[in-house]
Amino acid sequence: MSSAFQSPVPTQTRYHPHRSRFRTSWVRERLTTRFAMGVCSVLLSLLLSAGVIVFILWLSLRPHRPRFHLSSFSAPAIAQPPPALLNSPISFNVTDRNPNRNVGIYYDVVYGSVFYKDQLVGSGPVLNPFYQPPKNTTLVLGDLTGTAAAAGDKLAAQLADDAAAGRVEFRFELKSGIRFKVKIWDTHHHTLHVQCDVVVGPDGSLLAEYRDKRCSIYF
Ligand SMILES: *[C@@H]1O[C@H](CO)[C@@H](O)[C@H](O)[C@H]1NC(C)=O
Ligand SMILES: *[C@@H]1O[C@H](CO)[C@@H](O)[C@H](O)[C@H]1NC(C)=O
Repeated sequence: MSSAFQSPVPTQTRYHPHRSRFRTSWVRERLTTRFAMGVCSVLLSLLLSAGVIVFILWLSLRPHRPRFHLSSFSAPAIAQPPPALLNSPISFNVTDRNPNRNVGIYYDVVYGSVFYKDQLVGSGPVLNPFYQPPKNTTLVLGDLTGTAAAAGDKLAAQLADDAAAGRVEFRFELKSGIRFKVKIWDTHHHTLHVQCDVVVGPDGSLLAEYRDKRCSIYF
């Protein structure tokens, strides 16, 4: 409290001998500031050009996802009474297109799964690990054997109803680990999920309107 009431101590004005020293330090400071600004602008433009180069590289080399189309799907045991999936063949043909010009794709083992009313009714490996070159279309041809679903009899009754109505809906999925090979570097592993809508008619074959439909895909 008491210090606030002291009169202010007179400063500067009387220090004439020190004026010139003060001036040189001021000039030096100004030069330092200009130098720092120069360095900053050089660094900034370097950073900017590096950013532009990286952006252009990224645009031309960034991997696009592969595209999957379901070409055929067949569960012929549905056509015979009583319609069944257990121990009966389920076959399919999916086209897998790598749309990239500069990027190849390494696939791990590809697994296929077929679901009926959200119950797994068939699954297994459908393709060995392979490398897909740029702009390549690979066929994923598979034969799975139907397995017993947890829902058992209830599901068999629903299948019989659907088959009698001439329209049986499945969900078909592919799953694989993939890695993109950009011409310069390899990317990390990703897990690829492919999901196709499947509706088969009374003969157990894919209905025409579901043929060559694009399958959805997520990682
Ligand atoms: C699989 O589908 C593709 C594209 O529709 C076709 O070219 C090919 O012949 C089919 N392969 C088999 C074995 O059905
Ligand atoms: C796609 O790649 C596979 C495996 O490398 C090769 O067997 C096939 O002939 C290629 N297909 C085309 C259309 O280039």
